Amino acid sequence: MRTLIKGGTIVTAVDQYKGDVLIEDEKIALIGTAIDVQADKTIDATGQYVLPGGIDVHTHLDMPFGGTTSADDFETGTTAAAFGGTTSIVDFAIQYRGQTLHHAMETWAKKAEGKAVIDYGFHMIITELNDQVEGEMDALVRQGITSFKLFMAYPGIFMLDDGSIFKALLRTGKNGGTICMHAENGGVIDVLVQRALAEGKTAPKYHALTRPARAEAEATHRAIAMSEIADVPIYIVHLSAAEALEMVTEARDRGLPAFAETCPQYLFLSYDNYEEPGFDGAKYVMSPPLREKAKQRELWRGLAFNDLQCISTDHCPFCMKEQKALGRNDFSKIPNGAPGIETRMSLVYDGGVREGRISLNRFVELTSTSPAKIFGLFPRKGTIAPGSDADIVVFDPNRTITLSAKTLHMRVDYNPYEGRQVTGAADTVVSRGRLVIENGKFVGRAGSGAFLKRAARS
Ligand code: URP
Ligand code: ZN
Ligand code: ZN
Repeated sequence: MRTLIKGGTIVTAVDQYKGDVLIEDEKIALIGTAIDVQADKTIDATGQYVLPGGIDVHTHLDMPFGGTTSADDFETGTTAAAFGGTTSIVDFAIQYRGQTLHHAMETWAKKAEGKAVIDYGFHMIITELNDQVEGEMDALVRQGITSFKLFMAYPGIFMLDDGSIFKALLRTGKNGGTICMHAENGGVIDVLVQRALAEGKTAPKYHALTRPARAEAEATHRAIAMSEIADVPIYIVHLSAAEALEMVTEARDRGLPAFAETCPQYLFLSYDNYEEPGFDGAKYVMSPPLREKAKQRELWRGLAFNDLQCISTDHCPFCMKEQKALGRNDFSKIPNGAPGIETRMSLVYDGGVREGRISLNRFVELTSTSPAKIFGLFPRKGTIAPGSDADIVVFDPNRTITLSAKTLHMRVDYNPYEGRQVTGAADTVVSRGRLVIENGKFVGRAGSGAFLKRAARS
């Protein structure tokens, strides 16, 4: 099968030029100007950008959490991702206490098989560490699950003590894995939550008011300090607070391999959303919470100057009806998370590139190339080059869309950006040579996405 993408502007993390891309089966075969070959399918990309498919390294599909399960499964979630221009995800499998990592891996593999429409990998969430689990970490790295998420928050559910965190960090020094850290001081937050509830403060906004930026900064500092002592890299997930970014920046200025991602919600939404009337603030209950609008410029600075390396979504949707509603009388019972897998590329293009905050090359780097490099997928994914997987987005920089739960494809009954207009949208999306979205229409197939065996750090 030969597909020719003609006449577009090819953009990678470093290049921008007019050219054609020839795809043979699953791979990019040739890049050139005016390629003249017989193809089974020709895509006219005139006036459009030809980008490497987006890579979202932080999603939670079909995840039991907060007394319910995230609303998108691997079929609906990856379909929505494809609509938005994302061609690979890395989702989180969870080891519950008393279970093996192997069991978690099998459970999540079953959730994805036959459903995913784009390629997917897994990080492993470790909630209990012992000698046997440490041995399993090595085995998982060999099987292509090369990153592990640990929690410094959610005591009694996910939180690990510092000794266990340190042991896991040391282990990645031997097996080439990477620790991804949810950095918030869970002990402090728990006390603040109990105090707020005892004072009758039950509304959604108290979720944010009991998770101060300094609790994120403290945990970020501690996580980086432990990784420095263990002499291994660390990746901070869903960084939201400028105060936490300061910790990452300080570490990087000292030459430490500290990496971090932020998410669109922290760039485009703010604490003010929690003040929306009635129970609407629940739409934005996520951890860490949304922060002050005035601090967003610090995150953009971090993205522009590489103190933040990736933009992922932390897509973890719960419907307002029946799911978020579990916490109507107690903010601590609102399931944590929000939808975003479909809107990442358009939001960041519109608010980042069009607003002059980041360059077009940096946009590609933050949404595709850098996640691929950090998580062992490059150069198979994350760029447009001969031999790379044909994961390509034909992106219209001039198309304006209105974000709305009614027209987006995520299986959730609200959208945090409802009514917001963004310019720049994926028109046609190719995943490993197969058309998944063609001129805005879904033409993919459930089950055609494959498990991504990722490389360890060398
Ligand atoms: O609120 C969030 N972020 N929900 C998803 C779970 C996590 O901590 O990433
Ligand atoms: Zn987290
Ligand atoms: Zn998450």
